[in-house]
Amino acid sequence: MLKVVVLISGGGSNLKALLDAAADSAYPAQIVAVGSDTDAGGLDYARERDIPTFIVRPRDYADRAAWGAGFAAAIREFAPDLVVSAGLMRVLPAEFVREFSPHLINTHPALLPLYPGAHAVRDALAAGATETGVTVHIIDEGVDTGPVLRSRSLKILDGESEEELHERIKQIERPLLVETVRDIATGELTLTPSHAAD
Ligand code: GRF
Repeated sequence: MLKVVVLISGGGSNLKALLDAAADSAYPAQIVAVGSDTDAGGLDYARERDIPTFIVRPRDYADRAAWGAGFAAAIREFAPDLVVSAGLMRVLPAEFVREFSPHLINTHPALLPLYPGAHAVRDALAAGATETGVTVHIIDEGVDTGPVLRSRSLKILDGESEEELHERIKQIERPLLVETVRDIATGELTLTPSHAAD
């Protein structure tokens, strides 16, 4: 059974999808803890299932590197096989990435390498794109630059707002993340720093 720590900053619908999948005993991964940089609403999904949660706030640390070390220490307590950033809205410091990568993955609401960063959905719309999607990738020391594991695309509809598009992206993102974690757990996907997409 693959032990997974999930990191979030917001509503946690991707986290909920993972928790729901893992509630099935046939699913080969177990969510052992959920961590955040803030009092994220999505932490309630873990609390209501009696899964441990932790919050490590940047304001309690002198700088980003110190925060990263604190976050890493909290995660280490749970000895995870995999760390999943599912809506963590903070760039992880290099030392943190070196400790957990390549067993450290992220889900991003665009078809990387297009539209990296915190405003991927807005940026795709602003660029006049007709297609976008979601990418699950290994986190490396760059921002949304790590090796791609899986991606899925969708057409952008005429006149669609950022919120509407993001919600439609999330509808394909949740199952993609659940499938990717499953495939890592079964060995169908192997995490190596130079991973080539299958
Ligand atoms: C997801 O689209 C994720 O890719 C992005 O933020 C969103 C988080 O959604 N970074 P939720 O909190 O899982 O609902």
